[in-house]
Amino acid sequence: MKRILVTGGAGFIGSAVCRHLVASGYHVVNVDKLTYAGNLDSLHDVLARPNYSFWQLDISDDTALLDILRRERIEAIMHLAAESHVDRSIDGPAAFLETNVVGTFRLLNAALAYWRELQPEKRQDFRFHHVSTDEVFGDLPFDQGIFTEDTPYAPSSPYSASKAASDHFVRAWHETYGLPVVLSNCSNNYGPYHFPEKLVPLVILNALEGLPLPVYGQGANVRDWLFVDDHARALELVLTRGAVGESYNVGGRAERTNLKVVETICDILDAKRPLAGGGSRRSLIRFVSDRPGHDRRYAIDPAKIERELGWRAQESFESGLDKTIDWYLQNEWWWRPIREQKYSGARLGAAG
Ligand code: NAD
Ligand code: DAU
Repeated sequence: MKRILVTGGAGFIGSAVCRHLVASGYHVVNVDKLTYAGNLDSLHDVLARPNYSFWQLDISDDTALLDILRRERIEAIMHLAAESHVDRSIDGPAAFLETNVVGTFRLLNAALAYWRELQPEKRQDFRFHHVSTDEVFGDLPFDQGIFTEDTPYAPSSPYSASKAASDHFVRAWHETYGLPVVLSNCSNNYGPYHFPEKLVPLVILNALEGLPLPVYGQGANVRDWLFVDDHARALELVLTRGAVGESYNVGGRAERTNLKVVETICDILDAKRPLAGGGSRRSLIRFVSDRPGHDRRYAIDPAKIERELGWRAQESFESGLDKTIDWYLQNEWWWRPIREQKYSGARLGAAG
């Protein structure tokens, strides 16, 4: 399997996937609409490589997609393009339905039409890999439970409902039409090139600039963190070795409360860049009004991908966070233009 169409390759995880696949010798065709979250600067490592190409396109344009699939003789699709931010889905759910549900439906239609044209051997080897999230499983109590591949879906937010719907459509295209699909559901990623509206990069950059660090509610909500390059390696394994029709949970066994995440970032930054007058950046923490429908806890059981595909997370939360903070310290050229738009903690102003 050599020629892979990646959707959403200009986003946070998609760009890590493109860097990983290009470095591993695959031919990568990146299809991305370049929404506010898409950034070709994140692809500077691969832009000039002969085994990489880019098409600016909405995944809802199934005619253009089919044309690209044919022209590029695609052997697999890895589908990451999505609206991905929960807070935005609360403020404006329509875009989430349009891209995550209708866009995935149109992409599936283009993939199915193309797959039906392939010669038998190519048909058998073809894969449609849908990249999804642990948020489809909903809310876990603080003190018990873990998400396995068999956990029933119970999405809470417009974002997670749209991802759950897209997962169901992908499975239906396998069951009904025979399209060879694989799915993966991953926990919270962090790492380089992460758009600074999400907790980790927002807190790193606000802490660096001496701005308030907004923590929703009491900061007791728990997320299960995974370094983005560990996710990219898992995705390659699921695509190339995953069993057709199966899903794989991906996570780093690294549950942390949000408050702990924010405090850890403060402490690492205090050690790397001590404040002029001494003191701790923890003093910048502000508890603000909670996210509506805020899931208490996510926790992934990655036993299946570990057992069946031999995947293991290589970074601990602390080692990955250290690398991530170093990356933000060294790559102001990437985040400064984004920050100068408006992303320095918009909810804090509203919630006070
Ligand atoms: P992101 O928001 O950083 O990137 C999304 C990319 O998709 C952007 O480049 C954007 O331009 C593109 N895109 C959006 N709408 C499009 C459309 N209609 N047509 C073509 N391109 C479009 O997202 P991310 O954090 O990199 O997440 C990527 C995928 O992984 C998503 O499907 C998300 O649900 C899933 N996921 C994310 C996480 C996480 O922690 N970030 C965890 C598990 C799963
Ligand atoms: O679990 C996987 C999901 O992780 C992905 O599917 C999503 O695409 C991705 O955005 C992420 O969703 P979260 O909502 O968990 O990520 P976010 O960084 O927005 O928030 C992480 C936690 O921190 C969450 O409990 C809300 C909280 N938070 C977030 C922000 C932006 C704060 O306390 N303050 C903040 O300013």
